[in-house]
Amino acid sequence: MEKCTGDDAVTDILMTGPYPDWDMGDLEAKYRVHKLWQSKDKDALLSSHAGAIRAIATRGELGASAALMAKLPQLEIVSCYGVGTDAIDLAYARANGIRVTNTPDVLTEDVADIGIGLLLAVARKIPQADAYVRDGSWRKGNMGLVTRVCGKRLGIVGMGRVGAAVAKRAAAFDCTISYFDTRKRDDLPYTFVGDLLELARDSEFLIVTLAGGESTKHIINAAVLAALGADGIVINISRGSTVDETALLAALESSAIKGAGLDVFWNEPTIDERFLKLTNVVLQPHHASGTLETRKAMGQLVRDNLAAHFGGQTLLTPVV
Ligand code: 8YV
Repeated sequence: MEKCTGDDAVTDILMTGPYPDWDMGDLEAKYRVHKLWQSKDKDALLSSHAGAIRAIATRGELGASAALMAKLPQLEIVSCYGVGTDAIDLAYARANGIRVTNTPDVLTEDVADIGIGLLLAVARKIPQADAYVRDGSWRKGNMGLVTRVCGKRLGIVGMGRVGAAVAKRAAAFDCTISYFDTRKRDDLPYTFVGDLLELARDSEFLIVTLAGGESTKHIINAAVLAALGADGIVINISRGSTVDETALLAALESSAIKGAGLDVFWNEPTIDERFLKLTNVVLQPHHASGTLETRKAMGQLVRDNLAAHFGGQTLLTPVV
C-alpha cells in the first residue's frame, strides 16, 4: 500500500550515522532529521519520535536491524549510503512493506581501483618503500626486492559489478583472470572456477569482492588460505565477514601467506590489534568508496531515492 503523502516539509527521518556536510545540509533543509549516533539515550530518542519517523538514512556498515525497524511503526523506507545491504534486515523489510534502496554503480570504479591499489601496495611494498626513503634507510643501501603483480594469476572471489571492474583493470596488467561465484558469467571472458579451493590453489593473488551476509560468512577460511600458499596475497574490499580473521591472522603471523591488503574488518573501526603489529599487511579504514566524487554521487542517490519515495515516484535503485 502506498503510504506517501508528498508532504516532505515535515517528514521525519532517522539517520544512523553522519553523511558529509553537503548531504546533511540538504537533508536537514528538507526533513526533520533525528541523529541516532549523537543521542546519549537512543531508546528515548526512538520512542519519542517513533510515531513520526518514516525513513531511515543509513550507511552500508551501519545498516538497519529488525530490532531498530520494529521500533518505528511508521517506517516506509530505508535508504542506504552504500551498495552492501548485508547489515539491513531485508527479510524484515520485505515482510513489513518497507522499501530499501542502495547506491550501486556509482562506487564500483573507485572500489575496484582500491582493490588493485592494495594489491600493488602489498606486493610492491609501497608503504614500506615510502618509510624506507623517509627514515634515511635508502642512504645506507637499497631496499630488498619485492613481488611482481603484472602477468600473474589473479583469482577474483565474487564476479559482480566490483569483481568485473577489478578484472578489467587486472586485464590491463596482463594478469590471467579466474573467478569464483555461484554462477558462471557468460558475458565475461574470464575463467569460471566453481570450487573456491581450486581457485585459491591456482591463483597467486585473491581479491575478494563478494557481498557480505550469512551465505558468504568466513568463505575465506583456513583451508582457502592454505591452498593459496606462502607466496599468495589476499585483498579484501568486500565485507570483514567474508574472511575468517582468526585464520587470516594466523596465516599472516606464520607467513603461511605472503600478505594481505584489507579495507574491511570484522569489528570496525575497533579492529583486532594483532593486525597493527604485522608488517605484511596494508590496512585501509573501510574507505574504498571514499573519494569526493563517489561520495557526492552516493549522497545524491540516497537523497534522490528519498525524494522519489516521498514524491510518489519510482525508486531509482530499489533493493526491496
Ligand atoms: C561505504 C560500503 O564505505 O558500499 C558499501 O557497501 O560499505 C561503502 O561504500 C559506506 O557505506 C560508507 O559509510
